[in-house]
Amino acid sequence: MGYPVTRLRRLRQTKLIRDMVSETSLDVKDLICPIFVDESAEERKPIGSMPGIERLPLAGLEAEADEIAKLGIPAVILFGIPEHKDQTGDAAYAAGNVIEQAIKAIKRRNRDLLVIADVCLCEYTTHGHCGPIKNNTVDNDATLDIIARTAVNYARAGADVVAPSGMMDGMVHAIRSELDFYGLKDTIIMSYAAKYASASYGPFREAASSGCQGFDRSTYQMDPANSDEAIREVALDLEEGADIVMVKPALSYLDIIYRVKSEFRVPVAAYNVSGEYAMIKAAAANGWIDGEKVARETLLSMRRAGADMIITYFAKEIAPTLGK
Ligand code: PBG
Ligand code: ZN
Repeated sequence: MGYPVTRLRRLRQTKLIRDMVSETSLDVKDLICPIFVDESAEERKPIGSMPGIERLPLAGLEAEADEIAKLGIPAVILFGIPEHKDQTGDAAYAAGNVIEQAIKAIKRRNRDLLVIADVCLCEYTTHGHCGPIKNNTVDNDATLDIIARTAVNYARAGADVVAPSGMMDGMVHAIRSELDFYGLKDTIIMSYAAKYASASYGPFREAASSGCQGFDRSTYQMDPANSDEAIREVALDLEEGADIVMVKPALSYLDIIYRVKSEFRVPVAAYNVSGEYAMIKAAAANGWIDGEKVARETLLSMRRAGADMIITYFAKEIAPTLGK
C-alpha cells in the first residue's frame, strides 16, 4: 500500500537492460577529427593549451590519416597554418596552398576517410580576422569572392566537404554557385551556420596562429545571448544550399543544437571547441575529474541534444573506448 507501481529503477538493474533501453548512442562513426597542418613545420609541434594535440608537418599527414582511418573515425577537418599571410587573405587561394597540399597528401591513397576543408581567411590574414578589413570592419562581400575561390580550389584538390566558418552573410550561396559553376556539384557544404562569438576559441587561436587584432569578432560571429537568431542563420544557410549545418561551440549551446534539430530535421554538426577540450584536459591533469569519462558524457550530451556528428579534439583518444 502506498508503494510505487511504476518503478523506473526496474529498467536500471543490469547493464544489459540499461543498454536495451538506452535512447542515445555515441559511436565512432559520429566523430570528426580536426587536423592542424603547419606549412613551415618540419616535425610535429605540441600545442601548449591543447595537451595531446599537435600541429603536423605536411610530411606527417599520410601517417596521421592512416591512424585516424584505422580507428574507424570517418572524417577529418583540416585547418592550415600557411607560411605566408597577407592583409586580404588572398594566400588562402594561392595555387598549391597548404590545405590543397594537405588534401592531396591525404587523398593520395584510398582510405575510408572523408576530407572536410575548413574555409576561412583568419589563418591567412596578418590581422587574424576572417576577411579583409575595410572601414574598421570585415568587408563582407569582398570576403565572399575570396572564400568562393578558395572553396573551389579545395574541392578540386579533392576535398569531399567544404566548411565555411567565417559567418559572412551569403557565404553559402557564394560558395555553392562558384562550385556549381565549375561543375563541382557533388561537393558537400557543411556550414558553420550558428557560430557564436565565444570565449572558448582561445586554444584554437594559439594552435592556428589566428588571434585577431584591433577589434574582436562580435561584428560577425553571433551574440551568445541569442537563440532565435540562430534559427534565422540556419534557415538562410539551408536556403542557400547548405547540406549540413553546424552549431559552435557545443557545450554551452546544447539548447541551440536541440532547437536547430527539432525545427529543421536536417543533418546537424556540433563543434566541441578547443576551450571545451582544454577545460576537461586541465581538470583531468589535476586529478579533479576523470577526463575520459567527462569527455564521453559531454559528447553524449551533444548527441542527445540532436547532433548527428561532432567535431572533437577527443576523437582519437575516445574512439578506441567506444562501443565497449
Ligand atoms: C576559424 C575557426 C575558428 C574555429 C574553427 N574555425 C576560430 C575562430 O573563429 O576564432 C574554432 C575552433 C576551436 O576553438 O576549436 N574561423
Ligand atoms: Zn575565421
